[in-house]
Amino acid sequence: MEKLLSSARSSHSTVPERFHLPPELRPPALAAAPVSLPVIDLTRGRDEVRSAVLRAGKEFGFFQVINHGVPERALRELEAACVDFFRLPAADKASLYSEDTDRTNRLFSSTMYESGAGESYWRDCLRLACHPVELTKPGWPEKPATLRPALEDFIVPARSVGMELLRLLCEGVGLRPDYFEGDLSGGEVIVNANHYPPCPDPGLTLGLPPHCDRNLITVLLQPGYVCGLQVSYGGGWIDVEPVPGALVVNFGHQLEIATNGLLRSVEHRAVANAAVARTSVAAFIMPTMDCVVAPAKELVGEGSPARYRSIAFRDFMRVYKTVGARRESVEKAFRI
Ligand code: OGA
Ligand code: NI
Repeated sequence: MEKLLSSARSSHSTVPERFHLPPELRPPALAAAPVSLPVIDLTRGRDEVRSAVLRAGKEFGFFQVINHGVPERALRELEAACVDFFRLPAADKASLYSEDTDRTNRLFSSTMYESGAGESYWRDCLRLACHPVELTKPGWPEKPATLRPALEDFIVPARSVGMELLRLLCEGVGLRPDYFEGDLSGGEVIVNANHYPPCPDPGLTLGLPPHCDRNLITVLLQPGYVCGLQVSYGGGWIDVEPVPGALVVNFGHQLEIATNGLLRSVEHRAVANAAVARTSVAAFIMPTMDCVVAPAKELVGEGSPARYRSIAFRDFMRVYKTVGARRESVEKAFRI
């Protein structure tokens, strides 16, 4: 359990050597570029929302949504419950801690990829299968008592937001609105509660290395008061600015494959912060493991040949684990 950053007896005074990234991977001293991700109000007219989502998705692969239908109270309660979870005494978290990458519900620290190899990152993570709620809920931590109800009140409407955005994106790119219903979105919803404790020297390490998400679409709750998530844009990084009450949305590799590259999965990373802890909650909507994900026939034709191989999601995950999460290596493995 000493491995958990959040269980350290006192706050960290130095960054242990194992967290020091090679210089080329460290966050540059320069501030993030002054570009803002679009913040889209989902209560605007459907045509307006559809084109805003498509425009933002094509340009950034990321956007924020407000007035999305997940009650503000549900967001606040989930954030508080996750913060309380990481504050629990080590003994209350010990049985959840596991470095077994085949175990779905587990608490782990400092690694990014399933292999657990490579550099160490300034993050603790509680990972839980959350869909369908009735089946997965018994596997969620019992402490703090607020966690289970808060997760349930978040995950059900947050998944609906993701599904509604997929329908709008379908309409935008010329697919039938229910294209992603069924197996393409019917797998697990994995939730990562990420906790980044204050870091004595954020210039030496990262909370999460640059990576793309491997799922279909991600809906993320981040605190409304502290930066940390950065998105690759124009050769640099831009901050995902904290917007209280907003949800951050980004595309995973499966959406990129299915849309034949019209909507791209964009690299992002989390930088550590010297002053305050940051706790985020990412919900990953995934295909079923047996689902064969392929470029949609409607989007392939003369002038736009299939750019990705068809592959069962299970096999994608297996290959992904070996090539790592950098966009370049994933592209090399799955592009035609
Ligand atoms: C992730 C992720 C970003 C964050 O969990 O895949 O990108 O802000 N998280 O914690
Ligand atoms: Ni991510």
